[in-house]
Amino acid sequence: MSLRLSKRVGRISPSVTLEITAKVRAMQAAGHDVIGFGAGEPDFNTPEPIKEAAVRALAEGFTKYTPVGGIPELKAAIVEKLARQNNLTYSPEEILVSCGAKHCLYNLFQACLEAGDEVLIPAPYWVSYPEMVALSDAIPIVVPPVDDGRFKISPEALRERITPRSRAVIINSPSNPTGAAYTKEELRALAEVAEEADLLIVSDEIYERIVYDGFRPVSPAALSAEIKARTMVVNGLSKTFSMTGWRLGYIAGDKSIVTAMTTIQSQSTSNPTSFAQRGAVEALRVPLEEVAAMVSEFARRRDVIVKGLDAIDGFRCSTPQGGVLRLSRCLGPLRAAIQGDRAQGLGRCRGLPA
Ligand SMILES: Cc1ncc(COP(=O)(O)O)c(C=O)c1O
Repeated sequence: MSLRLSKRVGRISPSVTLEITAKVRAMQAAGHDVIGFGAGEPDFNTPEPIKEAAVRALAEGFTKYTPVGGIPELKAAIVEKLARQNNLTYSPEEILVSCGAKHCLYNLFQACLEAGDEVLIPAPYWVSYPEMVALSDAIPIVVPPVDDGRFKISPEALRERITPRSRAVIINSPSNPTGAAYTKEELRALAEVAEEADLLIVSDEIYERIVYDGFRPVSPAALSAEIKARTMVVNGLSKTFSMTGWRLGYIAGDKSIVTAMTTIQSQSTSNPTSFAQRGAVEALRVPLEEVAAMVSEFARRRDVIVKGLDAIDGFRCSTPQGGVLRLSRCLGPLRAAIQGDRAQGLGRCRGLPA
């Protein structure tokens, strides 16, 4: 018997962030004082009403298969959220609910990419983008940022990397890992390049609510009807509502693409977990003020770590405009670093065994 792996799996590597997270957990279990900077995972609990909705669903026996692409109540809540918060109008047929935003991206690439197609990925990027593109036999093309410390790409750099095989560009604002967020004007300039080259815009908006200093997130889909028609909006519950383990994300966009993605999902995972979907309906009702408390704590941590890093000789740290800072256990050591006790503070932050 020959136990052979596919060439496809040989082209990808395991998720580095999940590997780092597993290593951090193992080190913590072994008693090391170590801080995880791997997965973007809020260290807050999921708000009670969301958990209660899922518990109620279980108690009511809502434990069976649901429609593949999500229950109608959840699709309606997503349609309503996109209208209210993003000024975007979609019908339920233009929405797919999957097991996390990551699953949406996977389904999307499987539905839209052919072998040899190129997908433009602004750097620095979330580690999963190139691997998911490669899993669909397409080619990730990295677009370097402007060298000004702001970690954003220019329309010129995007244009330069376009070839006849270019099929899509991923825009992740606010960005994991840099926290950089594009303004409306910057997005418009990038979207114009995508229009010129007839690219699909994959807008990963998973961090849209975790923004600082009054930054107002904009979806490229909200820029014009033409841009909306070529944009797939990806979002989820993981970051905004501290629901990483629930595995619920959604995508909105062109109906034929959503239908194709739903077919792929019907032959792989089927529906996202039934009772988690009931929790998600409740999550989308949570007032944004409740999310604001978590975000202001992240902002406080951001300020501490930016100050701490800037205090190190030879370090310059650009201030993130968004993203998750999972640093509560790091604050003490960082304060120590700010106060000048650098060696002790940063040694502990790195979690190096004494
Ligand atoms: C940029 C980005 N997009 C998508 C995801 C996936 O989120 P989800 O938990 O909804 O799959 C992550 C998770 O870390 C992320 O950082």
